[in-house]
Amino acid sequence: MSLSKPIGILGAGRAGTALARAAARGGVEVRIASTRTPAQMRYHLLQYAPSATAVRAQDVAQGVENVLLAVPQEDLDDVEPEWIGDRILVDATNRWEEEPLPEWFEMGLAEGLSSSEVVARRFPTARVVKALNHISHWGMDAPRSSEPRAAAIASNDAAAAAEVGQLVTALGFEPVIASNLSAGIRTEPGTAYFNVAATPEQMSRHLL
Ligand SMILES: NC(=O)c1ccc[n+]([C@@H]2O[C@H](COP(=O)([O-])OP(=O)(O)OC[C@H]3O[C@@H](n4cnc5c(N)ncnc54)[C@H](OP(=O)(O)O)[C@@H]3O)[C@@H](O)[C@H]2O)c1
Repeated sequence: MSLSKPIGILGAGRAGTALARAAARGGVEVRIASTRTPAQMRYHLLQYAPSATAVRAQDVAQGVENVLLAVPQEDLDDVEPEWIGDRILVDATNRWEEEPLPEWFEMGLAEGLSSSEVVARRFPTARVVKALNHISHWGMDAPRSSEPRAAAIASNDAAAAAEVGQLVTALGFEPVIASNLSAGIRTEPGTAYFNVAATPEQMSRHLL
C-alpha cells in the first residue's frame, strides 16, 4: 500500500532508520532528524536511509501530520514539545533494561502510567499514539512472510489511531487497534509479543 502523506521521524539511529527504510518501501516520504545537522547526517543517511530527507530536529513536524518518536527515553529531556505541536506523535520508544530516565518520566511510571501515557503528559498538545515499539529494527527490515505480522496501536484519540493504522499498513504490518493509550503497556519490554511476531488474532486477544 502506498501512503501519499509524508511523515517525520525524530531519531536517526537503529529504529529511526529502519522505520525510514520501511517507509521508503511503502512509498512514504520521510523527513528525518537527530541531534546532528542535516549536513552532518548526510553520509549516515546515504548508508542507512538513502531515501529520507534530513531536517533539523525543530523542523521535523513541518509539512507532516505524523511524527515517529525514535529517540531513547533517557534523551527525551532534550526534545522540545513545541517541535511536535499538535501533530500525531507515534511513540515508538521503550525503556531499555535499566536505562536512566528523566525525573518526570520516573515519576509518571511510579504513578502507574504506561510509558506512552507519560510521554503524552510530556507532549500535551500532541495526539499521542503508541505503535511500532514492539518491533525490532531487524523485524522492520525482515522480508514479509505470507502470515501477516500484527502491529499494536494504542491511543485515546480514535482518529489518530486510525491514521496510524494506515501508516502501519504502508510499512508492511497489520494494524491492531487497542481500546486506549494505557493498553499499550501490554506491548512494553517483557510482555509476550515484544520483539516476538504475533498474528493479528493473537495480538487482538493479547490487547483485550
Ligand atoms: N533498535 C530497535 O530495534 C528499536 C525498535 C523499536 C523501538 N526502539 C526504541 O526506539 C528508541 C531509539 O532506539 P535506537 O535503538 O534507534 O537508538 P539509537 O540507535 O541510539 O538512536 C538514537 C537516535 O536518537 C537521536 N537523538 C538523541 N537525542 C535526540 C534529541 N534530543 N533530538 C533528536 N534526536 C535525538 C540520536 O541522534 P544522533 O544520531 O545525532 O546521536 C540517534 O539518531 C528507544 O526508545 C528504543 O527502545 C528501538
